[in-house]
Amino acid sequence: MRTFKEYAALVNEGLETTLPAACAFDRELLEACRYSLLSPGKRLRGSLALAGCEYAGAPLEKALPFALAVECVHAYSLIHDDLPAMDNDTLRRGRPTCHVAFGEAMAILAGDALLSHAMLLMARACETGGAGAARAAVTLASALGIRGMVGGQAQDIVSENAGAGGEEALSYIQRNKTAALIRAPLLCGLQAGGADERAERAFSEYGLHLGVAFQIADDVLDVTADPATLGKSVGKDAEENKLTAVKLLGLNGAREALQRETELALKALEGLPGTAFFRALAQQMLVRNS
Ligand code: IPE
Ligand code: IPE
Ligand code: MG
Ligand code: MG
Ligand code: MG
Repeated sequence: MRTFKEYAALVNEGLETTLPAACAFDRELLEACRYSLLSPGKRLRGSLALAGCEYAGAPLEKALPFALAVECVHAYSLIHDDLPAMDNDTLRRGRPTCHVAFGEAMAILAGDALLSHAMLLMARACETGGAGAARAAVTLASALGIRGMVGGQAQDIVSENAGAGGEEALSYIQRNKTAALIRAPLLCGLQAGGADERAERAFSEYGLHLGVAFQIADDVLDVTADPATLGKSVGKDAEENKLTAVKLLGLNGAREALQRETELALKALEGLPGTAFFRALAQQMLVRNS
């Protein structure tokens, strides 16, 4: 296994060349796609795919198309999340959001294009990658839509408009809008690499709790972080009346929930050998500041 930094660097390298070159008529679309895809994200999701594949003992090239695909999907989800009709944000990864830089229509299309590109990467991987790649594609595709990220985003908006919602709604939002896109690439990497069933089961549980912890940390940071370090505006969740861990549980309650989810993530890996990388990553959730 390598370090997180090494996985993230490999993801960045792959992202540089994954999109087609622009022609005379799609220059602006490509520019908007590259602007969002290549801006400095943490590359958590792509790195998890690569790490899962190496954990399974396979060369990480088997997971690379899925690592790039999930980062394309993630970038699309952020572009759309920032739109005026959704969270109405102007700062992302330390830069003006895609719609501020390119206009709303081009931002919507850039999101669409990145999702479509992710599908192409996955389909190509299935052509050559055998049964493991096909399972990985199903796993990732299942996490993107109604029973995944988009479903979670929809409930996030519904809860905002309703101005209320309890723990069940919050849990649905955390699991779908965020944890789905964290758990799936990890499982995807394991499946592309041919991991055994026991590892898959443990990491499925780990990925879920890691993802929920990640969103709770995001909610806490919206209240406590420095915008320059975070690269996003802060205080937006309260402004938009979002149903977050902080809103429902208070800041201390959210921090306790973050601790609990981290412990559950660690517990899921008990008895599984060689998981130091993943345990360290879960611990990192407790102290992250961006
Ligand atoms: C932000 O994700 C969206 C959430 C699910 C909270 P990240 O915090 O991973 O964003 P980048 O990719 O590092 O910008
Ligand atoms: C968004 O959650 C999760 C996505 C699916 C994009 P947030 O709205 O809390 O993410 P940030 O805080 O804008 O990054
Ligand atoms: Mg949002
Ligand atoms: Mg947002
Ligand atoms: Mg947030």
